[in-house]
Amino acid sequence: MSDPDINHQVVLARRPQGEPVLSDFWAAHSPRPTIRDGELLLRTIYVSIDPAMRGWLAETQGYVETVAVGAVMRSFGLGEVVASRHPDYQVGDLLVAVTGWQEWSAVDPAGVLHRVARSDVALSASLGVLGITGLTAYVGIVDIGRARAGETVLVSSAAGSVGSAAGQIARAQGARTIGMTGSEEKRRLCLDTFGFDACINYREVDDLTEALKELCPDGIDVYLDSVGGATLDAVLPVLAQNGRIAICGTISEPSGAASPGPRPNRQILVKRLTMQGFLATDYLARLPEISDLLTTMIQDGKLMHLEEITEGLHAAPQALEQLLAGKNQGKSIVRVGPETT
Ligand SMILES: NC(=O)c1ccc[n+]([C@@H]2O[C@H](COP(=O)([O-])OP(=O)(O)OC[C@H]3O[C@@H](n4cnc5c(N)ncnc54)[C@H](OP(=O)(O)O)[C@@H]3O)[C@@H](O)[C@H]2O)c1
Repeated sequence: MSDPDINHQVVLARRPQGEPVLSDFWAAHSPRPTIRDGELLLRTIYVSIDPAMRGWLAETQGYVETVAVGAVMRSFGLGEVVASRHPDYQVGDLLVAVTGWQEWSAVDPAGVLHRVARSDVALSASLGVLGITGLTAYVGIVDIGRARAGETVLVSSAAGSVGSAAGQIARAQGARTIGMTGSEEKRRLCLDTFGFDACINYREVDDLTEALKELCPDGIDVYLDSVGGATLDAVLPVLAQNGRIAICGTISEPSGAASPGPRPNRQILVKRLTMQGFLATDYLARLPEISDLLTTMIQDGKLMHLEEITEGLHAAPQALEQLLAGKNQGKSIVRVGPETT
């Protein structure tokens, strides 16, 4: 961080046409913000790069307000409190909050997602496996998927941040785990590092349904679906009776566009399937408990997690472009400032 009175930012320059690209953003700066009663001033250390950003940038209304053209790009970030006008927060506290792509932010405590304690796990994990993505994986597999010992669990985007944690959580529940991912390198990662029992490179198979039937002769009991679209259509015929589909994301579907496809109602009826969507932000109250559990799994060597850390706030748009092209390996994070001053 150069001049502490200047707040370097990345703002939305124009509404993306399709997938967001570098030229949809530009670098800007403003004076370091001042805070009002009840607020905190955060110095950003890391920002998170998430598939959800595609929806936040789309014209069509999603589950949160669309980022306005000219506004600082919305993001989760890990920051250090450098000034506080709220009795519950002290200078030096580490928080995950909606910081945006900027060096400094004036934050209302309502925008704080969780507090972070220093431990032997990297601080950046608070934006990944010990933050929203770990929470998403746990809720998807345990609460929504209700994965049990002896069952078969299928995970899409299996080498990614949510997917890799989900596979290992399902394995810890005693389930057999099958991954799907988009390259041979990531397929090997799923098998060798994340311990999936089997993994399919979906770009290399001619018929995904047939490939899944071969791997899962008794059917799939739980499907953690992060991609939707044609992949979901291909998985539905392989679901076992009483199977559960946890709808986690729709990354393969264009943001806001209608998604025509086979209607799943007949499959749902005949096989007594359950299909439920969920948003991790509805489960934030459980994050401390789940984060403790995942920390223990990491310390016991039962939960591997990868991070792809890009240097410098200016590189955030490129990191987003890479993520949406499937080129990230692990949780995508951008380092904005040092961990300690
Ligand atoms: N429900 C919630 O509260 C919640 C919270 C966090 C994340 N999520 C969702 O969880 C999913 C994974 O998020 P993450 O942060 O862990 O990201 P990630 O899996 O680390 O990265 C995204 C991955 O999605 C795959 N992908 C990208 N474009 C795709 C396309 N057009 N079709 C199919 N796959 C594509 C790529 O993997 P492959 O090369 O392997 O296909 C890419 O690496 C996303 O859908 C995200 O929206 C949901």
